[in-house]
Amino acid sequence: MTALLPYQDPSLEVPARVADLLARMTLPEKVGQMLQLNAKDGVEPLVRDFHVGSILHASPDNVLQAHDLTDGTRLRIPLLVAEDCIHGHSFFEGATIFPTQLGMAATWDPDLLERAARATAVEVAATGIHWTFSPVLCIARDLRWGRVDETFGEDPFLIGELASAMVRGYQGDGLTDPTAILATAKHFAGYSETQGGRDASEADISRRKLRSWFLPPFERVAREGCRTFMLGYQSTDGVPITVNHWLLNEVLRGEWGYTGTLVTDWDNVGRMVWEQRIEPDHTHAAARAVRAGNDMVMTTPQFFAGAQDAVARGLLAESEIDAAVAHILTLKLELGLFEDPRRPEPARQRAVVGAPEHTAVNLETARRSLVLLRNDGTLPLAGGFTADATGRAADPTGHPYRVAVVGPNADDQHAQLGDWAGASGQADWLPDGHPRHLTTTVLDGLRAHAPSSWTVTHARGADVVTVGPDPEGAFFPDGQPRPAVAVPCPPDEALIAEAVRAARDADVVVAVVGDRIELVGEGRSTATLELVGGQIALLDALAATGTPMVVVLVASKPLVLPPSALEAAALVWAANPGMRGGQAIAELLLGLVEPSGRLPISFARHVGQQPTYYNQLPGQHGTRYADLTQDPAFAFGEGLSYTSVAYDDLVVSTPVVGRDDAVRARVAVTNTGGRPVLETVQVYLHDVVTSVTWAQKELKAYRQVALAPGERRVVELELPVRDCTLVDADATRVVEPGEFELLVGPSSRDRDLLHATFAVRG
Ligand code: NOJ
Repeated sequence: MTALLPYQDPSLEVPARVADLLARMTLPEKVGQMLQLNAKDGVEPLVRDFHVGSILHASPDNVLQAHDLTDGTRLRIPLLVAEDCIHGHSFFEGATIFPTQLGMAATWDPDLLERAARATAVEVAATGIHWTFSPVLCIARDLRWGRVDETFGEDPFLIGELASAMVRGYQGDGLTDPTAILATAKHFAGYSETQGGRDASEADISRRKLRSWFLPPFERVAREGCRTFMLGYQSTDGVPITVNHWLLNEVLRGEWGYTGTLVTDWDNVGRMVWEQRIEPDHTHAAARAVRAGNDMVMTTPQFFAGAQDAVARGLLAESEIDAAVAHILTLKLELGLFEDPRRPEPARQRAVVGAPEHTAVNLETARRSLVLLRNDGTLPLAGGFTADATGRAADPTGHPYRVAVVGPNADDQHAQLGDWAGASGQADWLPDGHPRHLTTTVLDGLRAHAPSSWTVTHARGADVVTVGPDPEGAFFPDGQPRPAVAVPCPPDEALIAEAVRAARDADVVVAVVGDRIELVGEGRSTATLELVGGQIALLDALAATGTPMVVVLVASKPLVLPPSALEAAALVWAANPGMRGGQAIAELLLGLVEPSGRLPISFARHVGQQPTYYNQLPGQHGTRYADLTQDPAFAFGEGLSYTSVAYDDLVVSTPVVGRDDAVRARVAVTNTGGRPVLETVQVYLHDVVTSVTWAQKELKAYRQVALAPGERRVVELELPVRDCTLVDADATRVVEPGEFELLVGPSSRDRDLLHATFAVRG
C-alpha cells in the first residue's frame, strides 16, 4: 500500500493539507483550480488541458466522465461540480421542480422553503453535483427586468428570511453531511438596480443605498455561513463588481468576516476586455480579478493563459493566486471530497430523485404560492368541496357543472415550470424538458380534481410569442451570438372564436394567461408588461360572453393586466408554480385548499409606473402622475382568502424602550367568515422623524396564524430595537432615538394598517 501524502491524510488539519498540496502544484495547475468551465462541449479538454477546479452545465454523462478523468490526474484533486438548481434539480430528468423563487416567496414561509431546499439538495447530491447557484438575493426593482422571477421579490427583510432558510436547507447539517450542497448567495450586489429594466446594465447605486436595502440580506447569509457568493455582471461607478475592492474586501471579507469562496458570474473576467472595455487583454483582466479577491473564475477559458502571463510579467504574484487556490482547496477538503468525491450514485438517485416525499413538499409549496387577488364570490367554484379519497372534489348533488379551461398557459408544461428548468435553454441535454406526465397543468388538474359529474372543456384561445432572428444580425461585433428576439403573435380569430364558444357553453370559464419563457430570463427583459400576443383580445372576448371568468395568471413576474382581467370574477396569480402547480390551482379553485399566498412584490397598473415597490422614499411632489395614479394595481403583502379577517386592538405594551430592549405588542385577529384561513400578520415600522429621507414603512416582522371560522386570536409581536434602524448620511446603520409607529395589518397598504406608537430613549 502506498503511503498517503500529507494532503491526502484526513487525520491532518485542513490548513496543513492545503499548504502541502499547494507546494506540490505547478502554476498551470493552480490557475486551473481557479477555473470553472462550461462542460457542455465535453469535459476531457477541461480536465486535461486546463486542469479545471470546477465545471458547470454538465450533463449526467459528463458529470460521470469528469469524475473519472480527475481521478486519473497527477494530484487527483477532486472536482467541484456546479449547477443552477435554483428551484429544484431543474436540469435532471425526472427531478422535483418547485415553483420559481418568486413563487416560493409568495408563501412567506421560511420553514417550507427550507424543506424545499433540503429536498433539492438531497436530489442534487445524489447526482454527483456539489454546488447550486442559489438563492438569488437581488431585490426586484423594475418589473421589466427579465430575472424578477428568480428573486424573492421587493423587500429586503423578506428576502433575508427566505434566503437564510434556503441556505440552511441546501447546506444541511454542514459540509460533511453527504446530502449537503453548497449554496450561493447571488448576485452580489446591486445587479437588480437596472436602468430601464435592462439586464446587466450599469447599476447606478451609492454605497449608502447599497447598505440601506441591497446588502442586508447578503450580510445575513454571509454571517450565517453561506459558503459561496457569486458576483454579478454589473458595474457601479464604472467599476465591475468583480473587481470592486471595497465591496469584496472591506465589506464582505472585512466587516462581515466572510471566509467563503467567491465565484464570478459568466465570463465576468472576459467581459472586462470585450464588453466593459476597461482592460486591454486577458492578462490584465486576470491580474485585476485575482487581486480583487476572486477565487473562482466562471467560463473565461482565456484566464488560464492570462493569469500565467500576468505572473510571468510581474503583474501578479504567484502568492496572490495561492490565496485563491487555498480557498478552493479548503472548500474541497471541508466537503471531504478528497476522501469521497461524491460521485453520482445510481441507487440513491433512484430512491430520492422525484421521491414522493419531495413531491409532497412541492405540492405544499405550490398551494401556498398561489395569491388570490380578486374574488367576487365566484371562488371557490360552486361554493367549494371537500376531497374524496382520491383527491377529487366530491359533489354529492351530482350537478353537471361545465368548466371551460382556455388560454395559452392552461396546458403548457414549460410556462408552468418557468425559467431555469428542463427545456428553458440553459441545458442542451433535455431539449424537450422533463417528461410531460410529471407536470400537472391547470387543465390536467381540473380534469383530475373536478367532481366526476362535471364537464371540463379546453380551447387554447391565443398564441403568445414566437422567436425570430435578431434583425441586427446573428452575431455581435465581437463574435458573440445574438439571442433570438421574441415576436408577439397576432390575435387569431379562429382560436378566439373557439374559446368563446367553449365559454358560452360553460357555467364558468377559467382563463389561464401569462408569459412564456421566451419573455423571461437573462438578456430577456421586456419593454412592456402587458399580456403579449393574442391574450388581451382573448380575455376581452371571453369577458363579453357574460360567463363568469376566473383569470389564472401563470406569469413569471407581475404583469400589467387589462380591465377584462382586473374586473374578472376572480383573479389568481400563480407565478411559475412548478410541476404540481396545475393540481394546486385546481384544488384552490375547487376550494379543496384555502388561498394563503401574499404578494412578495407589487403589481403595476401601467409599465410607466416603474418602479412600484412599496418602500420608496418620501419627498417627491405629489403622489401621482398628471395622467395616472402611482397606486399599484396590487401592493406588496396583499392576498385574499376565502374568508374575511378583522384586525383590532393593536397595543404596544412597551411604549418607551431602550436600545437593547425589544418592542412588544399584540394585535387581535379574527376570522369573521365561514372558512379557515392562514393569515399573514405583517408588522411594518415607521420612523417618524429621521435625519435622512427614509422609507415611510418597512416590513420588520410577520407571523402566520391559522384561524378557524369565527376564531379570534391575540397575536404577540416582538421587534428588537436594534432592528429599528436606518442608514444615516454617513452610510452607517443606526437606531435614531425618538418616536416610532408600529403598523400592523394584512398588507403594506395604508388603509390596511393599524397604528400604535412607541419611543426609543436617547
Ligand atoms: C449566469 C447567471 O447570471 C447566473 O445566475 C448563473 O448562475 C450562471 N450564469 C451560471 O449558469
